[in-house]
Amino acid sequence: MGWQAKYVTQFPQFAEVEHALEIGAGGFATAIELSNHFQHKRFYGIDFVLSARALENLADAPSNLTVVKHDARDLRVFAQGYFDLVYSVAVMEHIRELALHLEETYRILKPGGSYWFWQAPFWSCSLGHHYRHSKADCPIPDYAHLHMTRDRLEMHIIEQGRTSEVAKKATDFIFDRPDLSRIGRTDTRRIIEASPFEIAEWRDDKDERYDPEGVARVLANNIYDIPEEDLIYKGAKVHLVKRC
Ligand SMILES: C[S@@+](CC[C@H](N)C(=O)[O-])C[C@H]1O[C@@H](n2cnc3c(N)ncnc32)[C@H](O)[C@@H]1O
Repeated sequence: MGWQAKYVTQFPQFAEVEHALEIGAGGFATAIELSNHFQHKRFYGIDFVLSARALENLADAPSNLTVVKHDARDLRVFAQGYFDLVYSVAVMEHIRELALHLEETYRILKPGGSYWFWQAPFWSCSLGHHYRHSKADCPIPDYAHLHMTRDRLEMHIIEQGRTSEVAKKATDFIFDRPDLSRIGRTDTRRIIEASPFEIAEWRDDKDERYDPEGVARVLANNIYDIPEEDLIYKGAKVHLVKRC
């Protein structure tokens, strides 16, 4: 099993789950893997994009998996109290309207049901800009999205020898992309605490690229008032519960 499927099956109540939903299923590999492995359970996967990779993977998906092309900010396609488990990986940082998404997820869970998610990278970490962040040719210095204004960053990329087209494409992506929340760790937690969910577990993941010099630059020009503690962390593994 891949690490994401393993992550889901480690949920303490997984054995009892009858109906599970994956939010932002991407290529649907995890949903397909789990459906094949646990044929007596019903799986659902939702994403507002069905990529070519997803369609290829889904060509021979098992019949206990239902795929829904839809926006996770509106889950009215699902009945109230239907799911025992909702899970997502690397999706929460893409949803600007987090409170709405949490309300919707709460509604479709059974009382006692869980929303498990792994969220990374937060906007408030070194690579939170998301622009080609895992690629060697990424033109954005770590943390620069947190301490440079859009114009300054665009100019900086050009000063580093990149074309103005590259600089504009990068800054348009970072500051205008609609599916990027631009919400840091503390603000994310505050929104979750204000939601109807109870936080059963919150495990911070350290930012392995943590760099004191980069952090000092953010603190010297902290455009978004990011709490210093947020700069230590890249992501979080979170377990939310709908109390009975
Ligand atoms: C970084 S990818 C992660 C995909 C997959 N979970 C994985 O780990 O490989 C984020 C996914 O969330 C989806 N997504 C983002 N915002 C969404 C929304 N509001 N509704 C539905 N899907 C969304 C994107 O289309 C994308 O497939």
